[in-house]
Amino acid sequence: MHATVQPITKNMPSGQGFTLQASALSERLLELKIEADVVQAFLEQVAEWPVQALEYKSMLRFRVAAILNELCGKALQPLLVEALTNRDTGALLITPEGLNQVEQAEEMVKFTTAVAHLFGRSNFDAMSGQYYARFVVKNEDNSDSYLRQAHRVMELHNDGTYVDQDTDYVLMLKIDEQNMEGGNSLLLHLDDWADLDRFYSHPMAHKEMRWAAPPSKNTGKDVFHPVFDADRSGRPIMSYIDQFVQPANYEEGNWLTDLSESLESSPSILSVRVPVGSFLLINNHFWLHGRDKFTAHQGLRRELMRQRGYFTHAKTLRNPKQ
Ligand SMILES: [Fe+2]
Repeated sequence: MHATVQPITKNMPSGQGFTLQASALSERLLELKIEADVVQAFLEQVAEWPVQALEYKSMLRFRVAAILNELCGKALQPLLVEALTNRDTGALLITPEGLNQVEQAEEMVKFTTAVAHLFGRSNFDAMSGQYYARFVVKNEDNSDSYLRQAHRVMELHNDGTYVDQDTDYVLMLKIDEQNMEGGNSLLLHLDDWADLDRFYSHPMAHKEMRWAAPPSKNTGKDVFHPVFDADRSGRPIMSYIDQFVQPANYEEGNWLTDLSESLESSPSILSVRVPVGSFLLINNHFWLHGRDKFTAHQGLRRELMRQRGYFTHAKTLRNPKQ
């Protein structure tokens, strides 16, 4: 079921200070570049607030969002809302030009915060104790999940599967990268997955399952929900991760393994290179994400930042699960 994608970029609000085009990988993935003079003006106007101010005062996250929107002729907000809620797209690779050195990590956090708070509100991240989390991937790792392990694929999944919080969007920023080979982000749109109907129509798809995370996630209690749900238009959406679902029995365990094998072998997976300073922003209900493996290197270092949250913009609230 490969849906025809409308050329959404034609219908997008236009404004000043940015360019938008479909990725060469897929028309569903939109590449948004914010021009360097807008980025510079934004950083000057928010310079009085260090990231700590944004951590302590939630309201300032929305103020930095307003500053960025003004600099883009008020067109950035409607563009992001449309791009994220449109089922045909729902994914952006965003590049703030001139913001691409690890020394600018604080500025990167400010910029991503502004973008996220144009349409949503980022959730408390239990791993960091903040509304965002920065974390480093190195050559050696002894953590208890695959998040920080370099040499293997992190399989396709949705975020927020084991927490009691709506996770409508996921934002993933590359802060630093040294001695990296491989490690592309992997994305799959549900409507491009050939086996969607087969799995969605199975009774197991709508059966409540248990989800529990390891200690590093600091979540504490289990949550219960099925792998699939429907949005308000009746289209399938997913809340799934292979590492944290706890099948109750033989049938659940084998159905989930079949599901995982089908997802991982899909020819429609996009392999996206995210440069330092750029970030992916996806609708977490109909896009799955993962990460390809890296080649071992003693000096390997990669730093990432994530924000996950829920839609708050009036248009997105009309269709909260789109
Ligand atoms: Fe994730």
